[in-house]
Amino acid sequence: MPGVEYDASDKDREPFVEMDPTVRYGRYEDVLGRGCMKTVYRAFDQEDGIEVAWNKVSLQNLDDISIQRIYSEIRLLKSLRNENIITLYNAWLDKKTGHVNFITEVCTSGTLRQYRQKHRHVSMKAVKNWARQILGGLHYLHNHMPCIIHRDLNCSNIFVNGNTGILKIGDLGLAVTVGNDHAAHTIIGTPEFMAPELYEEDYNELIDVYSFGMCLLEMVTLEIPYSECRSITQIYKKVSSGIRPAALEKVTNQETRRFIEKCLALTSVRPSAAELLMDPFFRGV
Ligand SMILES: Nc1ncnc2c1ncn2[C@@H]1O[C@H](COP(=O)(O)OP(=O)(O)O)[C@@H](O)[C@H]1O
Ligand SMILES: [Mg+2]
Repeated sequence: MPGVEYDASDKDREPFVEMDPTVRYGRYEDVLGRGCMKTVYRAFDQEDGIEVAWNKVSLQNLDDISIQRIYSEIRLLKSLRNENIITLYNAWLDKKTGHVNFITEVCTSGTLRQYRQKHRHVSMKAVKNWARQILGGLHYLHNHMPCIIHRDLNCSNIFVNGNTGILKIGDLGLAVTVGNDHAAHTIIGTPEFMAPELYEEDYNELIDVYSFGMCLLEMVTLEIPYSECRSITQIYKKVSSGIRPAALEKVTNQETRRFIEKCLALTSVRPSAAELLMDPFFRGV
């Protein structure tokens, strides 16, 4: 790469613990977060002089489906460009260590769940602004050609830049592209956020709208929906028999409650992200 060289003996070099094959990106030791698949580290792009996120996945002990999902996430991210979706910069396979690495933009304030827990007093206007951005990202995914269903939207897969107030949807590890009928069939996701029709193995992008409703509920109440349940089976039973999460009772603002209920409605009447963006709920935000 022009202008930048990596010399391990250089006393003034950054404390990188790893470089990418082009020697453009350097990884620090600091972990930004861990999920069930990835460990995400702080890193630096020496070409553009910006901080980035280094996503690392060990392929060891992963089954074929999980490996395919990682590659699919990278492929998808490569094709996307939207302010409210994480941007991918580079990806490569490290054959020597058996890791897939990919570089994305970094969100300096962590996940929306952490951010909301840290800042417990925020106005409804701020929450609406966050909600609108998440819907903006969803609208982009759902209107992409072909349509993309995220399938794992929850507050730990939405990242925050606290200094600009911009939110980004990330972790497209379970996302799927669907054909003209928009139909998908695999039961997958995070139980608390999974729409009832998902369990019927026949659903479309409206499952993301349901998950978005649960995210908004969490943003408003600071409580993970269905935290009153002790097992996934209990959650499943409640969801499939139409029992709402207890947290919904805590939403005293009627306008907000009605808006969340719209998102959680049965698919036949559940609005699309585009329709929700035009809802009077966002007036003046
Ligand atoms: N771009 C990013 N900026 C800041 N933190 C991130 C970023 N991407 C991921 N993280 C952190 O790493 C965690 C795991 O990332 P995620 O993409 O959700 O992987 P997994 O598929 O393992 O759940 C996130 O919950 C978050 O804490
Ligand atoms: Mg995740």
